[in-house]
Amino acid sequence: MNVTVRGRSRPFRTVAFDPKKNAVLLVEQRLLPHEFKVVPIRDYRATATAITDMVVRGAGAIGATAAYGLAQGARAFKGTDLARFLTHVDLVQHTLKEARPTAVDPVNAMIDVRAAMTSGKTVREQQELALAAAERFADEDVAHCRELGEHGAPLIREGMRVLTHCNAGWLAFVDVGTATAPLYAAQAQGRKFHVFCDETRPRCQGASLTAWELAQQGISHNVIADNAAGHLMQRGEIDLVIVGSDRVLGRTGEVANKIGTYTKAVLAHRHKIPFYVAIPLSTIDWQMAAGRDIPIEERSGAEVLGAWGIAQSPGSKVPGPKSGKRTYVRIANPTSTARNPGFDVTPPELITGIITPHGIFKPRELKKLRAITA
Ligand code: MRU
Repeated sequence: MNVTVRGRSRPFRTVAFDPKKNAVLLVEQRLLPHEFKVVPIRDYRATATAITDMVVRGAGAIGATAAYGLAQGARAFKGTDLARFLTHVDLVQHTLKEARPTAVDPVNAMIDVRAAMTSGKTVREQQELALAAAERFADEDVAHCRELGEHGAPLIREGMRVLTHCNAGWLAFVDVGTATAPLYAAQAQGRKFHVFCDETRPRCQGASLTAWELAQQGISHNVIADNAAGHLMQRGEIDLVIVGSDRVLGRTGEVANKIGTYTKAVLAHRHKIPFYVAIPLSTIDWQMAAGRDIPIEERSGAEVLGAWGIAQSPGSKVPGPKSGKRTYVRIANPTSTARNPGFDVTPPELITGIITPHGIFKPRELKKLRAITA
């Protein structure tokens, strides 16, 4: 995506790799929308921590980060003993897999990288194959997002009002995004529409990241409080919902996504508003048998009890002269604790269709996709 920083527009990828420095390059998403910065991460353990701490987040982006992190860890190995190398790579893979539990993209990405490495006869060859496979995963992520954008674009008609939840945009992938891909494709085809971005408490990815992306892209939008969607639906002000996913069960059509997605799906169903989920192939879990088995990340209660931002007086459009420093403010009662499940699972009967790089499928018909892609 082109990002305008200090008046200059340049293309960036959310996740990239510097082979000379053996560093994963990440857009530091915790600073957005106030500051745009790319940070180099030089060690696979630090790459895992960057995933856990959400320097990088979003299923596709952490998938590509895990793929590059695995190559990074493999390339850091010194020596020629293949058995010792493979034990080391197992540890790297395990460390990256543990960084966040819900999204399946990192698991699938690292399976791809490991499979590609097996044809190497030496440590050196396997190291090279690992990086080539990680680059391929990242390029495929971009291609899948573009393809699903073309399939989803006809859903966005002139003048529509579209609701999205969390950030399933460019920042959640290597480029383009999933829920945003049909929007960007429809915009390129000359259509005008409006997007409502759910704020998406507790970390506010909708307010901070999706709204920033849409502003960069010149798409008309409002941020709404998470509780506002039902009211807008009841008044006929939302025509369509599109979200992303961290794990879609290929066998059942259940969809794990950011906490609050299920609530929006129930509301959309009540108001007969089409509810779509947009995903690349790496988000499909073909093994898991039931949504209740999806590991749901529980994050720190501090995210619910307070919020991060920069100081600004409520009526003003720009931060004040003394602001600029990102600060945590406590919102909740000081002695109260919180529960903070990061994701929920939406059942297939609430989902109109799953937008994929190979077309739009009913959630229970994803098996057809397996036949096409096998
Ligand atoms: O906790 P996050 O910000 O990683 O959650 C991201 C989401 O829930 C996105 O909607 C999801 O990853 C789908 S788009 C990749």
